[in-house]
Amino acid sequence: MSSTIRVGVLGAAGEAAHGHIQAFMKDPRSTVVALWDTNVEGLEQRAKEFGIDGVAHSLEAFLARPDLDAVVIATPDHLHADHAEAALRAGKHVLCEKPTSTSRADAVRLVAAVRESGRVFLGGHVYHFRPDYQRMRDAYRRGDIGKAWLAEGDYVANLADMYGADGRTPWRSAADKPQDIMIGGGCHPFGLMRWMLGQEVVEVTAFSNHQAEPRLPLDDCYVAVLRYADGTIGRLTAAAGSRGKVPDGGYVKLRGTEGSLWNSQLFRDDNPYHSPHPIRDFGYETRFIGPRITKTIQMHYWAEQAEHFLDCVEGKAEPMTTVVDSARVIAGLTACVDSARTGLPVRVDNEF
Ligand SMILES: NC(=O)c1ccc[n+]([C@@H]2O[C@H](COP(=O)([O-])OP(=O)(O)OC[C@H]3O[C@@H](n4cnc5c(N)ncnc54)[C@H](O)[C@@H]3O)[C@@H](O)[C@H]2O)c1
Repeated sequence: MSSTIRVGVLGAAGEAAHGHIQAFMKDPRSTVVALWDTNVEGLEQRAKEFGIDGVAHSLEAFLARPDLDAVVIATPDHLHADHAEAALRAGKHVLCEKPTSTSRADAVRLVAAVRESGRVFLGGHVYHFRPDYQRMRDAYRRGDIGKAWLAEGDYVANLADMYGADGRTPWRSAADKPQDIMIGGGCHPFGLMRWMLGQEVVEVTAFSNHQAEPRLPLDDCYVAVLRYADGTIGRLTAAAGSRGKVPDGGYVKLRGTEGSLWNSQLFRDDNPYHSPHPIRDFGYETRFIGPRITKTIQMHYWAEQAEHFLDCVEGKAEPMTTVVDSARVIAGLTACVDSARTGLPVRVDNEF
C-alpha cells in the first residue's frame, strides 16, 4: 500500500475546493488523485489547472476508486451529510466542510456513520486554525480573564456577489435548499465560542428578519441569545446583507471576571497604561503567521487544516473538531432557527 495519503475532492470545481486541493497537493504526505463535481466544465478546468488525471464521471465511480484513502466534502451545505456518509461507508476518511449538516437529524446519522465506519472525520471549521483565535482560546483556558460571563460572536457579511442565478455560488440563494445564514455563517462564531469556552449551549432564544437580501428566500439577519451550561450568556449575530463596505464581522469577544478577550486582544485592569490598552495583542503577535497557501479564491488556513487532518489519519492527533463537536454546533444553530421561527425559547439537545 502507498504511504502517500491519496485524497479525492467532492465539489471540486468550487471556491472552497480551490484551497483544499492546493493544501493536499502541497503537503508532502498527501496527493490529490481524484475529483468529482456535477459541473463538468468547471471540473475539467480545475483538473487541468492542477494537472490531476483522476476526473470521475459519477459520485459512485469517484467513491469506488480503491486508490482513494480520504475525501474532502466541499459541496453545498445541504449535501454534506449525504456525501460524507457515502464516503465513510465507502471506507474513506473524511474532511467535511462546515456546516457538517443542516439539520439535527442529519447530524445524528453522520455521527452514527463515523462510529460505524471507524474512519477519521474532521469537521472543517477552518477558523479554528487562525493563530490569533488559538491564542485567545489558550488565554481563556489559562484563566487570563477569569471566568467568562458574556460571550459575543458575529458573522455579518456582504454576500451580495454570491447570490442570484449569476452569482458566484448560486446554490446559496437557490429557491430549493438555500443556505440558511444562521447555519452556514453562524457556525463560525458559534463554533469558536463553544471551542474557546469549552461549554455547551443548553438553551437559545432568537429573532430574525428579512430586510436586506431580497434574493435570499430566507431570513437574512438573526440575533440569538445563548445560555451556556456554566451560566455564561452568549449573543450570536449572523447576517448576510452587510452594506457600506464596512469590515465584515467575524469577531469573538469574551468578558470575564478578571478581564476581557476582545477581537484577539487581552485586556486586564492591571495594565500599566490608561485604559483601554491591550496587555496582549494576539493579532499583532501572529501577524507573520499567515496562511501557507495564499493563491486561493478564498483566503483561509487551508494548508494548516489539511496538515492536522493528515496527522489524524496517521494516528498522530485526534480531530480538533470531531463529528460530535460539529453535530453540537448544528444542534445549537438549528435550535436558533427554530426559536426565530416559533418565537419561543428552545432547549438544545446535545446528546449524540
Ligand atoms: N470554511 C470556510 O470558511 C468556507 C469557505 C467557503 C465555503 N465553505 C463551504 O464550502 C462549501 C462549498 O462552498 P463554495 O463557496 O466552495 O461553493 P461553490 O458553489 O463554489 O462550490 C460548490 C461546488 O459543489 C458542486 N456541486 C453541487 N452539487 C453537487 C453534487 N451533487 N455533487 C458534486 N458536486 C456538486 C458545484 O458544482 C460547485 O462546484 C459550502 O458548504 C460552504 O459553506 C466554507
